[in-house]
Amino acid sequence: MASFTFPRDFFWGASTAAYQIEGALEADGRGPCVWDTFAAAGRIMDGSSAAVACDHYHRWPEDVALLTQAGFDTYRFSIAWPRIFATGEGRPNEKGLAFYDRLVDGLLEAGIRPMACLFHWDLPQALEDKGGWQGRACIGPFAEYARVCAARLADRVKDWMMLNEPNIVAIFGYGQGAHAPGSTLGEDGILRALHHQNLAQGAALRAIAAEHRRLTLGTVVNIQPCRAESDKREDVAAAALWDAVWNRVALDGIMRGTIPGLLIDRMSGFVQPGDEQAIRYPIDLFGINYYSPNTMKHDPGAQFECGWGDPRCDRRTFMGWPVQPEGLYQQLMDFKDNYGNPAVFVSENGAAYDDKVEADGSVRDSDRVQYIRDHLESVARALKDGCNVKGYLVWSLLDNFEWAYGLSKRFGIVRVDYDTLKRTPKDSYRFLSQVAKSGTL
Ligand code: BGC
Repeated sequence: MASFTFPRDFFWGASTAAYQIEGALEADGRGPCVWDTFAAAGRIMDGSSAAVACDHYHRWPEDVALLTQAGFDTYRFSIAWPRIFATGEGRPNEKGLAFYDRLVDGLLEAGIRPMACLFHWDLPQALEDKGGWQGRACIGPFAEYARVCAARLADRVKDWMMLNEPNIVAIFGYGQGAHAPGSTLGEDGILRALHHQNLAQGAALRAIAAEHRRLTLGTVVNIQPCRAESDKREDVAAAALWDAVWNRVALDGIMRGTIPGLLIDRMSGFVQPGDEQAIRYPIDLFGINYYSPNTMKHDPGAQFECGWGDPRCDRRTFMGWPVQPEGLYQQLMDFKDNYGNPAVFVSENGAAYDDKVEADGSVRDSDRVQYIRDHLESVARALKDGCNVKGYLVWSLLDNFEWAYGLSKRFGIVRVDYDTLKRTPKDSYRFLSQVAKSGTL
């Protein structure tokens, strides 16, 4: 591709999540979340925990400096619900709020736009004990938590994202059990978790909007094209059904206030009158997390009879995920063509690789550089074709606690030495920094 210049107001930066970087899990009145319980039950593959992670809770000034030095203008972080409400509800914890005060002030002093995400998977354990996302117990508490965070920070934080990837929480947390809370409730559990997160999101959006004007309200979805492994009728049907589950419950819910036709019968047992209206909301900005497409095939033994197919792709990350940057283009265009071209941004994109560390501590991660470059080309193409893309945030600023994989998979553009907690920018950091500073790819 010839060189491409991004629009002047295109924003650049990085995303992180509280649980993956903060550490300090017992500091200042934080309560336990489902991931603490999951880790304590021995469910993290490398036996590690997020107890220290990147120790961002104490080292955040260093991390803000990394953002500034990169020339980034935007930073998406998540607020840890259990730091604000130890049991998910009740009285807010002043010390937890004070931490995000400090972080936000530090970001603003550094000239970086703070973008807060309210739920990146750290559901307070006490709420899970009340049924978690399987029922309606979390909806009211989530709306109140959103209201409290905005009341405290919205004088300085203008961009608010409600959820991060409700589909991953639903499928892996409640359906298949590979993520916290580790439930294996199958299809019904997945659909219930999706629906109740949708409802909580609608309630939180309304709770914030009732008290604040002129904020940018949004949410973050993990959207992946669902392709059929072959032209066989049952593979095509499997891909369509998986698309409904993976992508459309969240998208159609908020954008159209509808439940995908393929799922109406399966969801009729728990959808109540008025739910669709409560879910629909005219948000200002959509965050799209993109890693790779889903290739599906008919598999009678799998949930929804949708099995993972073979994407026929030699290029893979250290997660084993196929590298198919055109999927990002396709996904961005899906927003343009099917949802009225709303304002969107890439809220996560990046890759884990088996980084080699040189004797001087440097990391020449040319594969990650290439991954980011190729995906930026897809963003550029979508912009050229009229898609309303506003910015690009890489996943992630730092190597961090990669959920069930623990510390064994590194997604950072900055290396973290988990013994010393020293941060060392990788080549990918320098590459993205150069694109951000010049606005040119
Ligand atoms: C999540 C991140 C995660 C990344 C890589 C996304 O699904 O939002 O928390 O680390 O993917 O797996």
